[in-house]
Amino acid sequence: MNDHGSIGLSEATRTTSRLAADADGIAEAARLLGAGQVVAIPTETVYGLGADASDPKAVAAIYAAKDRPRFNPLISHLPDAASARREGVFDESASALAEAFWPGPLTLVLPVAAGGSVCDLARAGLPSVALRVPGDLVAREVLSRVGRPIAAPSANRSGRVSPTSAEHVLGDLDGRIAAVLDGGPCPIGIESTVIACLGGQPRLLRPGGITREELRRVLGVDPVFAASDEGRPIGPGLLASHYAPRAAVRLDAELVSAGEAALLFGAFRPDGLAAATAVENLSLASDLAEAAAQLFEMLRRLDASGAATIAVAPIPSKGLGEAINDRLSRAAAPR
Ligand code: TXA
Ligand code: MG
Repeated sequence: MNDHGSIGLSEATRTTSRLAADADGIAEAARLLGAGQVVAIPTETVYGLGADASDPKAVAAIYAAKDRPRFNPLISHLPDAASARREGVFDESASALAEAFWPGPLTLVLPVAAGGSVCDLARAGLPSVALRVPGDLVAREVLSRVGRPIAAPSANRSGRVSPTSAEHVLGDLDGRIAAVLDGGPCPIGIESTVIACLGGQPRLLRPGGITREELRRVLGVDPVFAASDEGRPIGPGLLASHYAPRAAVRLDAELVSAGEAALLFGAFRPDGLAAATAVENLSLASDLAEAAAQLFEMLRRLDASGAATIAVAPIPSKGLGEAINDRLSRAAAPR
């Protein structure tokens, strides 16, 4: 294994290059990925910690960089639907969803195709594979240059808030990965919607950038929300306490206590706001898309204020609000 792909103490001492999202930077990111190294890449949702999904050593290096305690199945990213079709078996629902939402913030969990190249480790040994064609042009340019699926969980240390800028990535992973390709801030700011099409009705495993309403329009039915399969979680990203800032998080706060930081939405002002140590508003205009785009950045800022608790004002659960509330309730879960 090469230097960057190795897992061990040397990990902490390497330098992470910051690549511009121009022709040279894209070519260098693709070269590193092709050589089995770990590179953070921009997507329209959050930054992904990418590595060659067909190479178990490269995938293992993702886990080492993230300090992830266990092997969760990862999303494999592809430049287009045609390449995705070589990796997964698409039923009628999967085809309709891919047609409607790719490229974009949708991940399909499908039976592994015969001859598929995503390695066992990237799938955590499951007979299914999670596939996504990202909307971000820089990401797709990198993917088509590498010519292999790229496994990429969010580019944060395990248990931390997902990164929506190259600065966030470096804050968590500087010195632990080969490079970050800086594509600027992520426009959607919240992870992809994960939906399983494994026979029978499609199941929503994680709410995200594509809303339930949009899914219903294509499927004709509401996908069943299925955090678990026979009692076992099939979307480990759904485990409680996953997106956690250092501070405790308190939801549906109609009151802010002295010493707490406050995360607001729209015009609502909780009692006691004047005593808050720091205040951010996800969207003054009550725009849920703007709120999703700002969520992780604002959680990081409030966390950095040093407050022991972040009090979060109520946020409606319609549209992207479902994904926002999902992430917040996991940030608030007991750790
Ligand atoms: O927006 C996103 O999805 C970002 C960007 C980088 O693409 N990626 C991301 O990856 O959020 P990650 O690893 O943090 O989340 C992957 C999700 C988890 O909820 C995982 O459990 C689920 O996909 N998943 C992956 N493969 C699966 C499988 N075979 N069966 C069930 N769930 C799976
Ligand atoms: Mg994540």
